[in-house]
Order: sequence, then structure tokens, then C-alpha cells
Amino acid sequence: MENLKVNLDNLHDYIPKNVFAGYKEKAIEANKILKDKTGEGNDFLGWLDLPNEINPQHISEINNTVQLLKDEVEVVVVVGIGGSYLGAKAVIEAISGSFDVFKKERDFPLIVFAGQTLCEDYMADLMRFLNDKKFAIVVISKSGTTTEPAIAFRLLREKLEEKDGKEIAGKRIIAITDMEKGALRKLSENEGYKTFIIPDDVGGRYSVLTPVGLLPIAFAGYNIQEFVKGAVDMEKHLNEYGFDHNPALLYAAARNALYNFGRNTEILVSYTPKLFYISEWWKQLYGESEGKENKGIFPASVNFTTDLHSMGQYIQEGLRNIFETVITVAKPQHKIIVPADNDDLDGLNYLAGKRIDEVNKMAELGTLMAHLDGGVPNIKIEIPEINEYYVGQLVYFFEYACALSGYILGVNPFDQPGVEAYKKNMFRLLKKPGY
Ligand code: PA5
Repeated sequence: MENLKVNLDNLHDYIPKNVFAGYKEKAIEANKILKDKTGEGNDFLGWLDLPNEINPQHISEINNTVQLLKDEVEVVVVVGIGGSYLGAKAVIEAISGSFDVFKKERDFPLIVFAGQTLCEDYMADLMRFLNDKKFAIVVISKSGTTTEPAIAFRLLREKLEEKDGKEIAGKRIIAITDMEKGALRKLSENEGYKTFIIPDDVGGRYSVLTPVGLLPIAFAGYNIQEFVKGAVDMEKHLNEYGFDHNPALLYAAARNALYNFGRNTEILVSYTPKLFYISEWWKQLYGESEGKENKGIFPASVNFTTDLHSMGQYIQEGLRNIFETVITVAKPQHKIIVPADNDDLDGLNYLAGKRIDEVNKMAELGTLMAHLDGGVPNIKIEIPEINEYYVGQLVYFFEYACALSGYILGVNPFDQPGVEAYKKNMFRLLKKPGY
């Protein structure tokens, strides 16, 4: 199997050799701190060895849970927010067919999400959608007390119990939470729900390779063994390779070197809408891990060529504080040729016989050249294709590089103290007892 690669060929004009050499040293040092588990936040390093620790029984337990329920229900509502939402959403969106949600006949339930918003209309739409559906709930909360999923779960549980009765509802609710603590753990024990554990030492945004990601992905009908295998192979690769061939070390060094030169916004670029939510997941991972102590690269994202017709102008000619990281996918899953047309009124016959992907690739290359000319440094992340295996590689690569990058920046990449500020105000405004 090929591995994901990081290509820094387009950085030479932006980072002098001696400066990059300094960041190489910093990355190697950060890697040592991470591996020796001596850095800040080292009580949250459970994700580091996670891929290798996922044993076949663990995978079987998840797949068996899916087998037991999948034919009984049409829809699975996954309830969670932040790290308890974005990983599963990102992986499912990446590997699903673009119109699979509209399939009439399906072997696995439709996955929908709740608890990731406080929008009343979204909730009302979801409740209406579920009126005539058989559904199950996977409720995910590490703390077990997060407001958004707690509200959604209260409503959905009530609906399920009304529809199917308490006993059947109890069998169609699965909770993923802490082993001992929190309201969700208590409720699950009281009601006898099937539960899966989020390990204590794995933070929300690093939890895709726990049941938090694996159960929803399996419910959607995807191969979690392959997903985990991709992560295992990436873990091995990152452990074995030195700086020059180690994608996580290269990426962490390069983005910090660019930051050092005032490039404080990183735009993650993809050329397929399938990676849209991978970018959303990446933004949470990097934003929450690095944005603290009044520093950190601001993680943004665009989807090309769509956004070349919106954000393209800014990237080409706006403030020069940005750099791009492009996820480039070598091979699409399908093949479509641009047809010839006798009249050629649209003037497209020069493309006749070419694959759409070739046009996309030339758009990618043309954009790269234009943005380099416009003064936008470019990092490339190359993956052979989008499937469970390579998304598994990508996830673990980004997690590992994020930890390194945080250590290079000099912050604790595993905490998120700033997230509490809005909650305190909201609770006070809502008159929550104790606030
Ligand atoms: O990454 C994080 O820690 C957060 O985004 C959490 O995942 C998010 O706030 C949800 O928390 P919980 O799983 O406790 O409900």
C-alpha cells in the first residue's frame, strides 16, 4: 500500500534553508517529547497508540451492535457536538456517494446528526422527518453534560419512547461516554442502554478512532477494519521514518516556519466536495489545539473549484498573511468522459474525450501556479484515493502532526480552556443553578 505524502516543493521561495533547518530541529524535538510523553497534556495521549491497540474483539463488538440493529431501523440519529460529532460526520461524508442519502433501498440505515446545533428549526425538521421512520439513537458525550446534545437527546429519547415504548426504545439507544463519570453514564446504567467507552486519556477531537467515530461509521455500512488499518499503517510509518520522509514532521515544521514569517492563516484546500467535512474536522482539531495564549495559526478551508468563484479573488490578491495546504487526491472512484458535440456551440470539443478529473487536475495545477505567482505558499498532502483506508491514514496523520505542531508552537495541544467562556455566560443568562 502506498502512503500519504507531504510535498514541500513549493516552499523554497518562502522559507530560507537555514530557517527551515531550525524548524526541522524543533519538529524532531517535539516528536521526542510526544513519544516520550513528557510534554504538556501528556495525560491525554491515549490516541497516540490507539490504532494499534484496537483489537479484533473491539471491532467485532461494534460490528455486532450494528448487525443487531441495522435491519430493525431505517435511520440512526447520531447525537453529539465538536469532537463527538465532526470525526464521524467527516469520515462518512468522505466515503459516501454524494447522493446516497436519497437512496430508497439501503442495506444500512441512513445516518443523520443531532445535538450539533441549538437551532430550533433544525430540531423541528428532524423530529418531523422521524415521525414515520423507525429509528435508533447513538448518543455521544464524553462529559455527559454538554448542553446541545443533552437537549437533543432528551427530545429524541422521548419521541422514541412514545413511538416504540420504553422497552424497545431502550434497546435502540446506544450511549458512548466516559467509563464512570457524567450524567449520560448514570442515565445509561439506570435505563440499561448498551454503552461504549471513550477512554479517559483521549480528548474529544482526537477520538475518531474510538467508538465515537467507529460506531457511526460502521452503522453507515463502511469497513471500520480498513479505516483502522489505514491509521495503523500511518502510525507505523510515522514511527519508522526520519524527518525527510515523515509527513507529520514535515507538515508540522513547514506550517510553523510559515507562521514565523507572518503567515497566520492556513487554508485547507480540497478539490472534491467529499472532503468538505474533513476540513471542518481539521479546523476543530487545529483550532482547538493551537489557538490559545494569544497565538496560533487560524485554520480556514475552501473547496475548489467551487470556491475559486468566491474566495479565489481574496486568495489571489488579498492580504498576504495566508498559506494553502492542498489535499490532492490522485484517483477518483469513477470515470466520466466529456462527450463530443457536433455543433460545439459551447466550444468544449477541445475537452472531448478527456476525463472530468483531468480538467479538475489542470484546474488544480493552474490554481497552484496562479497562487504561487500571487504570493501564496503551498503545502501539498497527496493521497492515492478516498476510501476507508486512506481516510484512516489521513486522520491519524493530521492528529499526529497537530500534536507536534502544538508543541513546536509552545502550547498544550490537548486542552481547550477557552471553550468554557461562552458556556459560563450562556448558563448565567439562562439562570442555570450555580451560575
Ligand atoms: O474536542 C473537544 O474536547 C470538544 O469539542 C468536545 O468534543 C465537545 O465539546 C463535546 O464534548 P462532550 O463529548 O463532552 O459532549
